[in-house]
Amino acid sequence: MAQRKATSLQTPLLVCNWKMNPQSLREARALASKIIRAARYAPPASVLLAPPFPYVAPLHALLKGQRAVALAAQNSTAHEQRALTGEVSYGMLADMGVSRVIVGHSERRYIIGETDKTINEKVALIHAHGMTPLLCVGETKKTTPAKALAFIEQQLVRDVAGFDKRAHFSIAYEPVWAIGGSKEVDPSYAAHVIEGIHVFCAHHFSSVPRVLYGGSVHCKNIDDFLYYRDTINGFLIGSASLRAQDMTIIIKKIYGKR
Ligand code: 13P
Repeated sequence: MAQRKATSLQTPLLVCNWKMNPQSLREARALASKIIRAARYAPPASVLLAPPFPYVAPLHALLKGQRAVALAAQNSTAHEQRALTGEVSYGMLADMGVSRVIVGHSERRYIIGETDKTINEKVALIHAHGMTPLLCVGETKKTTPAKALAFIEQQLVRDVAGFDKRAHFSIAYEPVWAIGGSKEVDPSYAAHVIEGIHVFCAHHFSSVPRVLYGGSVHCKNIDDFLYYRDTINGFLIGSASLRAQDMTIIIKKIYGKR
């Protein structure tokens, strides 16, 4: 694997993708409070909560007075603000303190049927509204790192087509087969693919994006992934982000206690 340590100087990002959970605002507040407490020594905006839309405003209020935890959106619209039933505008997200938006998650690609064209439109809008896209990519079936990378490069080419080379964005490498909270994943496989994504991006963009890993990361395997912390620039966590105890351990392991 080629050595490339430039990105290791960036603070790792930890993004909690709560998906369609928890089922009440009371639980969402309790979970967020525990994560905020665990993250009190983490660098500013290094831990991100991506709650379902109804919880964004109340959590925005809860996050006031601290700097370590910020808000991300799990999804965003492919349209500018107009009369459009059921959509949430970028202005609303910005007003609620949302700084990053997850886009191209495999559940939206393969369950909802979101296309690369839509993802590309969303990436452009997220950026136009001063937010940072967290673009999810990843192969659907377990294969070799080289084949996974070839698949991901195609996704990247389509999803960021027409994107300003200097634009700021992050990538989450999420092998679709590894999503589910308790799948067996070899961290060296993930690191190998991420290394390739870094090299690809260095050729295509002037600022090298952070590349996060997502897929069955939890408190028992985080050390194995952190072994590759020079390559893996953070984590996008699903199931374990709903367990305050897991998050407390993961946050301590990533950021330490100062
Ligand atoms: P799990 O952590 O539950 O595998 O989910 C990963 C994911 O999809 C995060 O976006």
